[in-house]
Amino acid sequence: MERSTTGIFYTTLQRRLHWLVLLMLIAQYLLQVPMRAAMAAIESQETLTLFQYLVATVHTGNGISIAAIMIWRWQLRRRAVPLAGGNLTPRREKLVRVHHVSLYVTVLGMMVTGALHYYVGIEAAGQWHEWGKWLLLVLVGVHIAGALSHGVRHGAHHEAPGVRSDTVLQRMMGRDSLR
Ligand code: HEM
Ligand code: HEM
Repeated sequence: MERSTTGIFYTTLQRRLHWLVLLMLIAQYLLQVPMRAAMAAIESQETLTLFQYLVATVHTGNGISIAAIMIWRWQLRRRAVPLAGGNLTPRREKLVRVHHVSLYVTVLGMMVTGALHYYVGIEAAGQWHEWGKWLLLVLVGVHIAGALSHGVRHGAHHEAPGVRSDTVLQRMMGRDSLR
């Protein structure tokens, strides 16, 4: 197969930030139960345990950092203008772009709703934060399924039926990167 994605790569920085955000998001989800407990303690005006204090500090700080990195990534994306897949039909490319934008918006929404609950005390924002958590999980699930469905071209001796095999995954893994 001719490689039609030549020259349309994510930079090393873009790839590093992509995987860093994945790790940071996993941390947010791992902290969800103690974070709920810490918030409940704050709302009932109990004295926080050291652990609750640490969880609240890490969850809020990490969440704000994730949002900041996403804004940074948005900037990098605008400059580098990488095409989604490179060899997609215009309609599919548009779909992938909308999907990527929805990931940005949802992550930023998590930051905003979390902050509105934690700093401003808007109770309903806690509910939005919880809906957002499920929305983000579904979007990332679709994202991973989509990414993996592209298969691994290098080293693959045969292709499973119906599984496309191209360089989309490599573009984010970095094996084909220019820089
Ligand atoms: C195991 C988890 C993940 C895998 C395997 C994966 C894989 C990929 C791949 C292969 C691409 C390149 C697609 C293209 O050619 O355009 C990509 C792009 C992207 N991924 Fe992921 N991803 C994962 C997790 C995440 C998570 C958790 C987020 C949440 C923010 C995310 C957000 C994005 C975005 C926004 C893009 C578009 C490029 C950009 O704007 O930087 N990914 N991902
Ligand atoms: C940007 C990424 C973020 C993610 C992925 C995330 C994820 C989560 C998750 C999964 C929960 C458990 C929700 C539940 O089951 O009800 C939670 C709870 C919570 N998060 Fe975040 N969070 C993020 C950012 C933030 C930020 C920036 C703040 C505050 C400044 C914050 C404040 C809270 C609070 C106060 C809770 C306790 C319960 C509630 O409000 O519903 N989060 N977060």
